[in-house]
Amino acid sequence: MGRGRSAGKRIAGSGASPGRRDNAGGTLPVGFLAGDGFIFPVVLVLLLFLVLLARAKPRENENDKENENEYFPEAIMRPLQLGLNRLRAVTKKPWDAGGGRRKFCRPGAPADDAGGMNNSNLRPRLRLLATGGTIAGAQTSGDGRGYTAGAFSIADLVAAVPQIAALAELTVEQVARIGSQDMNEAVWRQLAGRAQAALDDPGIAGVVITHGTDTMEETGYFLNLVLKTAKPVVLVGAMRPATAISADGPMNLYNAVAVAAAPESAGRGVLVVANDEIHFAREVAKTNTTQVGTFKSPNRGLAGLIHSGRLHYFGPTVRRHTAASEFAPLAAGGLPRVDIVYAHAGMGRELIDAAVSAGARGVVIAGVGDGNMPAAALAACTAAARAGVAVVRSSRTGGGLVERNIEVDDDAAGFVSAEELNPQKARVLLMLGLARTREAGALQELFRVY
Ligand code: SIN
Repeated sequence: MGRGRSAGKRIAGSGASPGRRDNAGGTLPVGFLAGDGFIFPVVLVLLLFLVLLARAKPRENENDKENENEYFPEAIMRPLQLGLNRLRAVTKKPWDAGGGRRKFCRPGAPADDAGGMNNSNLRPRLRLLATGGTIAGAQTSGDGRGYTAGAFSIADLVAAVPQIAALAELTVEQVARIGSQDMNEAVWRQLAGRAQAALDDPGIAGVVITHGTDTMEETGYFLNLVLKTAKPVVLVGAMRPATAISADGPMNLYNAVAVAAAPESAGRGVLVVANDEIHFAREVAKTNTTQVGTFKSPNRGLAGLIHSGRLHYFGPTVRRHTAASEFAPLAAGGLPRVDIVYAHAGMGRELIDAAVSAGARGVVIAGVGDGNMPAAALAACTAAARAGVAVVRSSRTGGGLVERNIEVDDDAAGFVSAEELNPQKARVLLMLGLARTREAGALQELFRVY
């Protein structure tokens, strides 16, 4: 400091220091910090600062005190670290890029950004919400078939896949711990609330939700309709419990995090990841009781494929969702009751009448073929529609669409056709739709748009 002070004096008062010469040969005024006497201490302070900066390690989550920089608060350190890492990436030698760590890059980022992607401090922050399911299941029987869904915590699941840490910085939250056969509107509301809160946080890049596969398509479609976001939201599950031979959960979870961390996953609505496939929540259906390739998108096909964290999208979704949807995450009060009645040869009217008597405001028929049903059931549905109950015709076939007025006169009966939605998804849309309108024409329009 003594050297700096005397040098400064020299510049300011003695004229011993020549100052800088302009093109015309005149002496330019020497600025306060440009003086020779200040360069050494400033460089010294900067060097000290950079040493402290370099000592800062990335934190695995918000509670990670161990890796917190001991000299500067997070608010200062994080932007500085990001800047420093960006600088390192820009000045990286060609031989540093790529290499073995390339496969852990943030998927979809441009190839020439390899340095930035590989640096853990540039990892996106994701919120991981857990609800249970087989992905968190533990086997209970010696033969490996029996298991309890949701036995492991989300922390256990993440700890089992340490490679995830290279993709994203996760904060985790256990919203529920259930098999998805017990998923219901109350948990949907809670889940939507927690997901929306995370998505509204500017520091969070996306949300991953672990969920049982049995009703994942319903939860996914519900969130696709109510969440207000363009950020990635990814549901993930597994067909084999976490303790099984060749459990599918770890790779599914790794891929789901990769999808949620990828900027090109934004704006696609809610996605479902399993078995190296990416599905749109609107399109996906569980089609097999036990096999890992259970999820199919029968009408419009896959959203994309993912291979060990590397993404390939095939196209955008076409129906309205998330930020563009008119449905709110937390409408006041419960949603109207909607029941599904499964059609079959010899079906009578009893179950339809029972649903109406039980208070259903809507009935979805899982119809035969293109949403048809026997005459007795048709008469019961017509009576229900006349009484103000919304009747939606879907199909039990698992593919194709139910059009209006083909075999059934929907106009005369006051019915709604589900178009491409399977019965369980038609129920979700009808519940949300009935909270806004009971008019058959307006409800039909919702099935055309969503
Ligand atoms: C469940 O849906 O919770 C059980 C089945 C599964 O997750 O695969």
